[in-house]
Amino acid sequence: MQNGERPRAHAVYPGSFDPPTNGHLDVIVRAATIFPLVTVGVVVNPQKRNPFFTIDERDTMLRRITADYPNVRVAHFRGLLADFVRECKADVIVKGLRVVSDFESEMAFAHMNRALSNVDTMFLMADSAYSFVSSSLIKEVFQQGGDVSKYVPATVLELMATKRHAHGRK
Ligand code: PNS
Repeated sequence: MQNGERPRAHAVYPGSFDPPTNGHLDVIVRAATIFPLVTVGVVVNPQKRNPFFTIDERDTMLRRITADYPNVRVAHFRGLLADFVRECKADVIVKGLRVVSDFESEMAFAHMNRALSNVDTMFLMADSAYSFVSSSLIKEVFQQGGDVSKYVPATVLELMATKRHAHGRK
């Protein structure tokens, strides 16, 4: 690299995104201002038996909410994140940290992913407005009829409502 030249880093932001929240979107947008290319990697996780959204739905929602960011792309993967990162030829993994307790498990993941792929993990602090927002909490509140409109993008809320309607609840 020449003096003054910026490295062209490709970042992978992995997650379940069931559903994507405003907290996720905030991290994606901030990562997209730092890295020339951000791949949002949706994990196909057979261990999570009852996902609310299918992989295709999550893919569609993520594509819609990131449509204004040409350097963000969406992909999905099975198996190890370390293998996906290598396949993408990514330079860095990005994760969001909401609270200190997130760090404990994330530190172990970061060490393991680096050992497996030689790729480092960089952390962005979640915006304090979303420090308590998680996909599982959003689903729980929504399914009990609570208002989650502040915490998910409008596109996501629409699809959640459509799915609830299809399952016979108002
Ligand atoms: O949004 P989530 O569910 O917190 O995301 C978790 C994710 C997808 C980042 C994590 O489950 C993952 O990396 N899964 C892929 C399997 C893997 O690589 N496991 C070993 C991690 S060191």
